[in-house]
Amino acid sequence: MANLYSQAEADRLAFWSAQAHKLDWHKPFTQTLDWSQAPVAKWFADGEINACFNALDRHVLAGHGDRVALLFEGEPGDTKTYTYSDLLVETKRAANALLNLGINAGDRVAIYMPMIPETVIAILACARIGAVHSVVFGGFSADSLRSRIDDAQAKLVITADGGYRKGKAHALKEAVDHALSAENCPTIENVLVVKRTGTEVVWNPKDIWWHEALAEASAEHVAVGFDAEHPLFILYTSGTTGKPKGILHTTGGYLTGASYTHKTVFDLKPETDVYWCTADVGWITGHTYVIYGPLANGATQVIYEGTPDSPTFERWWQIIEKYKVSIFYTAPTAIRTFMKLGKEIIEGKDLSSLRILGSVGEPINPEAWQWYHDVIGNSRCEIVDTWWQTETGSIMISPVPGAFKTKPGSAQRALPGIKVGIVDENGRAVEVSTAGSVAGYLTIDEPWPSMLRGVWGDHDRFVETYWSKFTGKYFAGDGARFDEDGDIWLLGRIDDVIKVSGHRLSTAEIESALVEHHWVAEAAVVGAKDEITEQAVVAFVILRQDEIADAPDEESIGKILRAWVTEKIGAIARPRQIMVVTELPKTRSGKIMRRLLRDVAEGRPVGDVTTLADSSVMTAINDKLSLGAND
Ligand code: WTA
Repeated sequence: MANLYSQAEADRLAFWSAQAHKLDWHKPFTQTLDWSQAPVAKWFADGEINACFNALDRHVLAGHGDRVALLFEGEPGDTKTYTYSDLLVETKRAANALLNLGINAGDRVAIYMPMIPETVIAILACARIGAVHSVVFGGFSADSLRSRIDDAQAKLVITADGGYRKGKAHALKEAVDHALSAENCPTIENVLVVKRTGTEVVWNPKDIWWHEALAEASAEHVAVGFDAEHPLFILYTSGTTGKPKGILHTTGGYLTGASYTHKTVFDLKPETDVYWCTADVGWITGHTYVIYGPLANGATQVIYEGTPDSPTFERWWQIIEKYKVSIFYTAPTAIRTFMKLGKEIIEGKDLSSLRILGSVGEPINPEAWQWYHDVIGNSRCEIVDTWWQTETGSIMISPVPGAFKTKPGSAQRALPGIKVGIVDENGRAVEVSTAGSVAGYLTIDEPWPSMLRGVWGDHDRFVETYWSKFTGKYFAGDGARFDEDGDIWLLGRIDDVIKVSGHRLSTAEIESALVEHHWVAEAAVVGAKDEITEQAVVAFVILRQDEIADAPDEESIGKILRAWVTEKIGAIARPRQIMVVTELPKTRSGKIMRRLLRDVAEGRPVGDVTTLADSSVMTAINDKLSLGAND
């Protein structure tokens, strides 16, 4: 591994070219990086590649068709195994079904699905024919789905009647119907529906059953190469303003980053390892470390449909024991939940197959790291705390197993090939020093293959958000510091993006959902510290006096507004608490001072109020609040 660091150090572009050469190219590339249109990078631009061919065909052609690709475990306990050959046949059929529906290269396809094998097949089928997938997490509301379909001008939605969650069939098609109702989403020509739960669904003229479409489609399909910079997918993520951004990833560079990091960080041995990443494919972790990374590397992986507590919190550990999982990748929120429940949950389970444990999505506190290491890993597994983002496409900062000694709570070093830095407000580099560390802003200082190529339909926003704060550097939005050994400690977001159970949310988006309610005149949302979920959504609202004459008591208002946010965005954005106030703390220039509201939400004495236009506001808020949660 030390080798990788020195190779990358000696010649970064030659290093990336070598990583890209591990993939199968329909037409080889001659140029590694074209940065002449910075900040829009072109990697391996004159090459042609097919992402699905790399995920499936090449393993079958290499004689590994009988290797298990997916070990699927449904929440009710049903199971299904797919070899690489099985997955290839199904994907070819699905690709032909999409072509039969008039989907062509470059068309956008929205995917709104539970965690089932058909989701993997749908995604790969899009990639196979060069259609651009836009996966929308199944927990998002009909409204969120609609705005994503419209923004990408998608032609097709692939969904399911439902999925199993927390022991119940949870409807999905209904939300699609709702999103498409009343002439909305005019670009959608068809809806392909997978039958998963057998729940009764309303059938519309655009609807087609997935199993019927696939049964009619040929099982023969030859994958052709697409330009390396052909768009592979769009994934919407929350930013600092109200509207989610469609992060665009292209084919060759993204796949290079996904496969290289998956192999390196998890020390993958495809012949023997059983890998399990618990992320939903609705998030970037599911894209890179359930779909593209593991499949490009020919891994055998578990996918599980449900939640960790169905039917009990023993479920995950039973799955690890049953499938002999050796590499496990999850989020700190889950680890903290288990830690709170205590080590009894793993009692009697044989977890001895585990060898590498990964963490992603939020900073992992040293206590949770230690518990993961000692209890789940029985003090003999490597822990990899991996820092990255939807925008970076693949892991940027992480220990590499065996390369150096790990430290609880630190993601440590940039991976070989990646250059990161920490700068102060003025863009000056913060140096590693033995005199104690200084916090600053994390930047990525050189282009990397899996970097985002833009924000769908909004080039200015792309430049403004990521490339304008520090000249020539990618600004990640995270705070970080070096310790005296030069290891990196991530300090969380420095903008108005919050992380709730590892899910990325924007305070502005929740605020705009709240003010859409006719009772609400103004809203301010903060992420308050939470023992389990890292942050929790706390909202402060000012009510419209004219509208609330007949409104119920404050407790009921809180309940109704929380349900409203669920309907507008999805349950993940539902505020833990809503506080009705009469004023919000603002600076003289009218900016809401969230710092003060965070103090209130976290039950701390309120900090410095001297910059407030009216310093009595905080006293009024404090006096008014009875700090009970709405739950
Ligand atoms: C946070 C998830 C600390 C960070 C892959 C980043 C982390 C945001 C870590 C991106 C980590 C992710 N330690 N913080 N190991 N991993 N983050 O786009 O704030 O959902 O900017 O991608 O998650 O969230 P996203």
